[in-house]
This record gives sequence, C-alpha cells and structure tokens, in this order.
Amino acid sequence: MSLYDNLLLQLDNGVLIITINRADKLNALNIDTVREIKTAIQQVYDDPAVKGAIFIGAGEKAFVAGADIAEIAELSDVNARSFAERGQEVFSMIESCTKPVIAAVNGFALGGGCELAMACHLRVASESARFGQPEVNLGLIPGYGGTQRLTQLIGKGKAMELLMTADMIGAAEAKSLGLVNHVVSQEELLPKCMEILGKIMTKAPLAIGLVIDCVNAAYDKDEDGYQTEANSFARCCSSQDFVEGTNAFLEKRKPSFKGI
Ligand code: COA
Repeated sequence: MSLYDNLLLQLDNGVLIITINRADKLNALNIDTVREIKTAIQQVYDDPAVKGAIFIGAGEKAFVAGADIAEIAELSDVNARSFAERGQEVFSMIESCTKPVIAAVNGFALGGGCELAMACHLRVASESARFGQPEVNLGLIPGYGGTQRLTQLIGKGKAMELLMTADMIGAAEAKSLGLVNHVVSQEELLPKCMEILGKIMTKAPLAIGLVIDCVNAAYDKDEDGYQTEANSFARCCSSQDFVEGTNAFLEKRKPSFKGI
C-alpha cells in the first residue's frame, strides 16, 4: 500500500518536492492529506539524502485552497479542538525542521493553504498566486496557526485587517507586506526555489539548522532567543564544519562541509 494517496513526492538533487495532489478540489487539505504531510516531513527530518524540501500544489490554479470545507462542515466542538491541534502539530514540524523548506505558491493559498505556506521557512510565489484567510466567511477562524504566523510575518494591524475582512491579496501585495520573499513567473517558480535551496545547500548544514532554530526562538515566548543564539554559536564552534569553513577561507578555497 502506498504511503501517499494525496501527495506526490520526488527527490531532485537532494530536494524533496512535495506536491499536494488533489487538483480537482484545488488541493484542499483533508485530514488524510494533513496526515500524509506529517509522514512526508518526517522523511525530510530522517532521510540523509534529503537536504531540503519544497511544497507546491498540483496544477496551475491552486497551491492549497484551504482545509477541506466538506470535512470542516462535519466538525463539532468536541472534535474541532483536536482537529486544529493535529494540524498545528504538523505545521510546527515544518517550521521546526532543521533542513530548509520552501513554499512554491503556484496559485490560491487560502486558509490552511496560506497557513501551510507560512509554516515554511520561505515563500516564493508565482505572479498568479492569491493569498488570504477567508475563514470568517464560514463563521470560523484559522486553526492551523494562521492568526499567529500571519501576525508574525506582516504585523498586527495588517494581519487584523486580512483576518477580519477575508480579503484576498495578490502576489505583489504579499511581497510588499513581507508575506512572500520572491515573485516570479509560473515557469520560473520551481527553478527559483531550487536556486535558493541550491545556494543554502552549499553552506554548513549544522549552521543552517541552528539559524532556523534561533529565528524560530525569536517567536517562542518560553525561550530566550539570545541564549539560544549564544548556545548555538558555541555549538557551531565545536563542529568540524567550522574548522573546515575557517580553514577554507584562510587557504582561499571553497569549503567542503560534511554536516558535523
Ligand atoms: N474545500 C473543499 N473543496 C474545495 C475547497 C476547499 N477549501 N476549495 C475549492 N474546493 C473545490 C470546490 O468545491 C470545487 O469542487 P467541485 O468541482 O466538486 O464542485 C473545486 O474545488 C473547484 O473549486 P471552485 O470553487 O469551483 O473554483 P473557483 O475557481 O470558482 O473558485 C476559489 C476558486 C478558491 C475562490 C473557491 O474555490 C473558494 O473560495 N474556495 C474556498 C476557499 C476557502 O474558504 N478556504 C478556507 C477554508 S477553511
């Protein structure tokens, strides 16, 4: 039995390309798909052949058009909390992954789709991408971390506006707000993500993972980010890659990092 009914996985030059593959439902996240995303991201954590990952939606219309409204409609107050907590757990796994994860936003990124993109470390959008948190249209609010990550990424005032109006914004506005890092044509979307990951993959993997930890620590109320940074800095200094990196600089050659 295949692990995946709703995802396509492809390993390309060390990058696991994870395609949400429910194009007929605009790649809406049903519970099975969220469970499969957890399995896929666990593979990113565990498989040494995987150095980074990209999330993208199947087809040209949608990245992910939200959680599956047909399933949401059946939720009661008894199971709704665990529905949200399960999704939050999976998206936190993406955010905490110490290998870089990019969202290649190729169309609608609404509700859970915007939340999935925001859980990734970077977002690259095609010109046709549309972002929004339209949950209030359904009498709901985001449940997969959207109220928190949108506020972190674009600030309180604008997050309040998008969350309360349910407005959709285009790629250019998303870039001006800091919600996406780059906007490119549809054809350039995956190449641009691969280019960014290719650059990151030439750096020391341990240092990259610690950068992710430290930046995330800035948003963790239970953590002293400066302390996390000092500890991580010390951890780097005891690594072989630090010796290699500094020696390579002094010897005027390119470093060859091993991730230890
Ligand atoms: N959950 C379940 N099914 C969804 C979905 C979602 N979030 N978003 C789209 N679909 C389905 C539609 O029901 C339709 O299925 P059908 O062909 O079996 O009827 C199919 O995907 C195509 O969507 P459709 O609405 O016909 O496309 P459109 O181009 O007219 O509109 C959107 C595109 C994105 C504007 C519209 O689909 C939409 O508003 N989706 C819901 C977005 C949302 O509220 N997300 C937050 C959920 S919490």
